[in-house]
Amino acid sequence: MNILVTGGAGFIGSHIVDALVEQGHRVRILDAVVEQVHGDAGPQYLNPDAEFIHGDVCDANLVKSALEGIDVVYHKAAEVGVGQSMYEITRYVRANDLGTAVLLEEIVKRRPQIQKLVVASSMSIYGEGAYSCDNCGPIQPNLRPLSQLLERDWELSCPKCGLKVKPVPTNEDKPLFPSSVYAISKQDQEQFCLVVGRAYEIPVVALRYFNVYGPRQALSNPYTGVCAIFSGRLLNDQAPMVFEDGEQTRDFVHVSDIVQANLLALETDRANYQTLNIGTGAAISIADIALMLARGLNKDIRPEITGKYREGDIRHCVADISRARTLLGYEPKVTLADGIPELLEWVRQQQAAEKTQITELEQYQLVR
Ligand code: UD1
Repeated sequence: MNILVTGGAGFIGSHIVDALVEQGHRVRILDAVVEQVHGDAGPQYLNPDAEFIHGDVCDANLVKSALEGIDVVYHKAAEVGVGQSMYEITRYVRANDLGTAVLLEEIVKRRPQIQKLVVASSMSIYGEGAYSCDNCGPIQPNLRPLSQLLERDWELSCPKCGLKVKPVPTNEDKPLFPSSVYAISKQDQEQFCLVVGRAYEIPVVALRYFNVYGPRQALSNPYTGVCAIFSGRLLNDQAPMVFEDGEQTRDFVHVSDIVQANLLALETDRANYQTLNIGTGAAISIADIALMLARGLNKDIRPEITGKYREGDIRHCVADISRARTLLGYEPKVTLADGIPELLEWVRQQQAAEKTQITELEQYQLVR
């Protein structure tokens, strides 16, 4: 098939491109190669067998020509820094919302041609994950109140009885409480694609990624994912700076499992017009991730627990992946025990600039 991957030079997009090329598809990349992500040199891993168009997904003429002869679109182009989205609001809304709008208008113009659209969504649109209270049963809380965070009381309490609650797997039916401009823009991307797809009978699959890690996740972008941030700091013999008490948990999913889900979304029609969690179903604390990375790099460096919180951060979210299992036949294959050493093998060959998001976020009172 002829496949367009927007954001195909990025961390996740580039791995999808490699897999599609490997399967014998003809692949075209549309990517703006943003300096913050790629540095001056640009990506060193662009697949030579894919066609590359350098440019912005907001440029309708460029998108029009990028769609020429295309059967399937993977929409992965997005700005991804949660904290940065809270002050570079226009930039995030432009790239994520307007970019998706432009792409959809051009797809609609040639609708019988496009057989599938797979859009990258995010677990960040849930806000807090799902929880259970021993007294009151399942609860779906909003963000922790500011007064609680200022007291450095990190765990969530039941809004009904006040008891501390326990995280449970989050499924796709959990109400959405996106808690950053980035998360709202991801919800928009997902829903724009789904409503437009439904209206014009263009099958859309929205994949809600949990916390993705793996080789090629930018180390020098201060707003990159936490595994890359911590790896970069450790590489430079600096302690990972951990927000809160480090006991907050995430579901880290290896990029090859994200690729697996994207390929399955093309192979089967069972997930058409659906939203699906793509994670592993296993949670790990951020402090433990820091320790695992340090051990893997043979660095005797303990994480610095800052006791500060980042505005909009949630405490726990782990994926319920039953729907992806049933509809896609998705099964995560890479555990952290295998995925971290593989990430670090790549990290050891890289250099990381000493940039941090914390100083900037503190200026905006987004970290305190
Ligand atoms: C990340 C992604 C987002 C994606 C979402 C769900 C990035 C930049 N963000 O957001 O695009 O949609 O996962 O997959 O990849 N932390 C520290 N110290 C740091 C940085 C982070 O302790 O220096 C903590 C945070 O407070 C948070 C956790 O690590 O508790 C995860 O943070 P981060 O990697 O930024 O992920 P998300 O905000 O979950």
